[in-house]
Amino acid sequence: MILIIDFGSQYNQLIARRVREQRVYCRILPPAVGVEEIQRLQPRGIILSGGPGSIYEKNSPRADSAVFDLGIPILGICYGMQFMIDALGGEVRPAGRREYGFAQLEILKEKGILKGLSGTAQCWMSHGDSVVSLPEGFDVVARTANTPIAVIAHEERKLYGLQFHPEVDHTPKGKLVLKNFLFDICGCKRTWTMKSFAQEEIVRIRETVGSKRVILGLSGGVDSSVTALLIHRAVGKSLTCIFVDNGLLRKDEAKQLKERLARHLDVDIRYARAGGKFLAGLKGVLDPEKKRKIIGRIFMEVFEAEAKKIPDAEFLAQGTLYPDVIESVSAFGGPTAVIKSHHNVGGLPKRMKLKLVEPLRELFKDEVRLLGKELGLPEELIWRQPFPGPGLAIRILGEVTARRLKILREADAALLEVIRERGYYRKLWQSFAVLIPAKSVGVMGDGRTYEHIIAVRAVTSKDAMTADWARLPHDLLGAVSNRIINEVRGVNRVVYDISSKPPSTIEWE
Ligand code: XMP
Repeated sequence: MILIIDFGSQYNQLIARRVREQRVYCRILPPAVGVEEIQRLQPRGIILSGGPGSIYEKNSPRADSAVFDLGIPILGICYGMQFMIDALGGEVRPAGRREYGFAQLEILKEKGILKGLSGTAQCWMSHGDSVVSLPEGFDVVARTANTPIAVIAHEERKLYGLQFHPEVDHTPKGKLVLKNFLFDICGCKRTWTMKSFAQEEIVRIRETVGSKRVILGLSGGVDSSVTALLIHRAVGKSLTCIFVDNGLLRKDEAKQLKERLARHLDVDIRYARAGGKFLAGLKGVLDPEKKRKIIGRIFMEVFEAEAKKIPDAEFLAQGTLYPDVIESVSAFGGPTAVIKSHHNVGGLPKRMKLKLVEPLRELFKDEVRLLGKELGLPEELIWRQPFPGPGLAIRILGEVTARRLKILREADAALLEVIRERGYYRKLWQSFAVLIPAKSVGVMGDGRTYEHIIAVRAVTSKDAMTADWARLPHDLLGAVSNRIINEVRGVNRVVYDISSKPPSTIEWE
């Protein structure tokens, strides 16, 4: 196992991904993790991540510097390298020139961490500080024009530092550098598979939960279904699931989900129908964040009321994934930049005094799908496109009303039907309709119309952190437009969203 200490960089999840792509298991822990805990985990190596701070700022995150004395190989990336150097008595200063973007790495010693690299190699830099003097025993093994100390090595103590980011695609040889660290330096073996992950998680859940009852909110999506399967394998009948129908689901979805879940998950599922409550709470609300908060609050109320009927519950399981964690909360608990409030993170357990079990917390969507497959989840559930907790409410700009919901539902159903018929459902990360409740003029038959606009959103993505608009064939888009305008009352115009994330987001609110 490799341990990643998270100093808050936006690229951390990528580091984890790169390590697991090499079939080496890794875990991400905050800087506060103590050396005893690290010793208990027995990692083969430690990666100190990048981060937004400056090491000489008062509140910059720090790990226990005793970590350098454990004899475990350590790789510091960007801020992680600066932290290492500062902790060991070297010096870090604001760089004369900030470096952001591509740089040419000049390899000085082609061995150890840089084995297999020679001459120059392109790398990606993003830093305002630089290491200016090294503690004893460290060697400079590569430099760039603006950063004379770009890669460092202390071969004897197996401490390494990279000022560039090896995890991003902009550093083509980054994978090789990470492989050198994992296999040559740490001696890791390629043994991690979804099967072993499932087995280990099942044991871990069993140890955590014992014979106590676990409750789980099922949404019908792949994350909560996989969580349910995993927990069920671990504790069997001690799992009770709650499905809250918020009335904001796609057309016929509540019904279909109910059938599917009952068919494929042999667990106790309680259904709470609460569409009316959600609609009443959303009356007159236009602001996207307010909508999200209201939906989150009502969800909690309904869930809590249902959970109270299960008095012996002690644990709450959630299908939180890694990207949910980083987009909603910062590494240090402060709100770095909350882009959108995901109600499925935090909140519930604090209020309900339940202990949290989040077995997917370190996984990415594609890994969860693999895990689902491993656990025998049927394809139709594994390949469901993600659907947000707040549902159609964040796809209706402005106020959510029963009439608007109906229009959006019909348009969305027509869109999905075409996407499925033409074999695009699985190729897309998500595809859905958005209601723009502004009116535009049209002509139907011989008459003037003045009606709403539907935007079609279809994106490709690996993990929702970034996404690109899908280059759908024009005749498919034409078919979608025809069907929506012909079949959905109240819509006379269809437009296609051609924005990527960033700078846009996938959902419109
Ligand atoms: P954005 O719009 O931020 O969405 O690019 C990224 C991914 O997250 C989904 N999403 C949510 N999922 N609760 C969820 O469970 C939420 O509140 C939520 N908001 C957005 C979105 O559909 C996309 O896949």
